[in-house]
Amino acid sequence: MRAPRKKRGQRTAAPVISARLNERVTLVSQPDGAIVAAFDGYAVELGRFSASLAKRVQPLRTGLPINSLASSRNAVDRELALLVRRLAKSGLLEYRLAPLRSDKDLVIIEPQMADYWPQAAKLAATDTVVLSRFAYLRRRGTDMVLESPRSAALFRIADPNVAATIAVLSTPHKIGRLRREQGFAGLALLGLLLDCQILFKLDAKHERLRWAEGDAGLAVWDFHDLLFHTHSTEGRHATPVGGSYPHIGLIPPPPAVRARWNGPEIDLQKFTAEFEETASPFARLLRERHSTRDFDEEHPITLQELAKLLDHAVRVQWKWTSPLDFGDGSVGPDIDYTRRPYPSAGSAYELELYLSVSHCDGLERGFYFYDAERHTLVAIDARAHEIEAQLVAAQFAMDAPMRPQILITIAARFDRVAWKYSAIAYSLILKDVGVLLQTLYLTATDLGLGGCAIGTGNIDLFARMTGQAFHVEGPVGQFALGRGASVGDSG
Ligand SMILES: Cc1cc2nc3c(=O)[nH]c(=O)nc-3n(C[C@H](O)[C@H](O)[C@H](O)COP(=O)(O)O)c2cc1C
Repeated sequence: MRAPRKKRGQRTAAPVISARLNERVTLVSQPDGAIVAAFDGYAVELGRFSASLAKRVQPLRTGLPINSLASSRNAVDRELALLVRRLAKSGLLEYRLAPLRSDKDLVIIEPQMADYWPQAAKLAATDTVVLSRFAYLRRRGTDMVLESPRSAALFRIADPNVAATIAVLSTPHKIGRLRREQGFAGLALLGLLLDCQILFKLDAKHERLRWAEGDAGLAVWDFHDLLFHTHSTEGRHATPVGGSYPHIGLIPPPPAVRARWNGPEIDLQKFTAEFEETASPFARLLRERHSTRDFDEEHPITLQELAKLLDHAVRVQWKWTSPLDFGDGSVGPDIDYTRRPYPSAGSAYELELYLSVSHCDGLERGFYFYDAERHTLVAIDARAHEIEAQLVAAQFAMDAPMRPQILITIAARFDRVAWKYSAIAYSLILKDVGVLLQTLYLTATDLGLGGCAIGTGNIDLFARMTGQAFHVEGPVGQFALGRGASVGDSG
């Protein structure tokens, strides 16, 4: 891509960041002073404001410079700043970076996380920056977008010079030198990209870029694995998640059972006809297993039953250490292993259970870690509204009449698997989750309890509850647990 030449003496105004309403959003002022944001058939009330504010919100359609919000000189200014913050919190704003009074945008920033607010990180001429290995450019519809699973926002590229600057930044560059490049897209843009971790600063001595970005927990991630993790969960992107039937009307529903293969058939019926007479207790347990979404509020699960479930399904049976054997006679460092009731890829046992307890006889409402080696529950000081948010999300995912009595979040210690496996680490973790889910289902059935796997989970919420970085240990599955409301509830 060639950047257009600048005419001698031509100076462009420095670009500024403006906030504007997402094009799907309309602001409606109500007679009682309430301002409501309306979009896609939804309405979000943003609070009550003075009549004078209604006239000041007009620029939000085209773009209101955000630095003008910082200098709140009078009450209406302060109201405007508050309204803009509330719109931002609800994900109803986007931000344009463009020279003042110009309609030529450089980029449009689309927040991907609720707490995103555009801030250009400080850069000095002597700083060296480089593109994150997690950043990528792609076509989305008819837009070119710059994204990263580490970033709280995505950047819609509106000027080819921006793409050219990004391409240049695949190699580390000193800011001072970059500024002299033809078509340089500007310091404000670089500051915004740095703030979103699409760029990162390098120290004077930077041998290997992979190790220079982030911590050891980040270094173990492959690009596609981190992208898959953040985009197949909730919390770090703004795309709708779940059963939205996006291809209805375009593609007919695929069948429940595969179309038959043409070929000679061997009938197995005669070997399996008498299930009732011959089936083992295990075969019966498999047939009995089903998802339970409706729980008995009068007789909740007890702490004793929970302890048994964890003992039977998850507890460490024993532990040993052996040196890493490369198979060619050479050995590596000593590695710890454990034996547990369910299988795990590479014997990694990277999965950890966190329990959001709503209603359990003998156990206080709260958030707990299950220590599978010591067979103990460790209380974690999470905020009540965060525990409630997890339980409500689980209830919603199950379309259930009440919160689960206990919500088990299965979190992965990603480095335990990624330290060994290239390219397949995340897929192995998801396979381990499937194995553990079935183990929890069967154990719950065996104990007369009920449960249901849940396909979604908010990785940002969990990060806030545990104080752990999303790439170090995070949710990869969930299981709602309790005593079923009635025998035979199949949800
Ligand atoms: C990986 C996985 C994710 C699931 N996610 C959900 C979910 O989010 N909400 C829900 O109500 N059921 C969920 N289920 C349960 C399935 O809907 C259920 O297993 C399926 O309908 C078959 O019914 P059964 O489990 O009663 O035999 C999930 C099951 C699995 C294995």
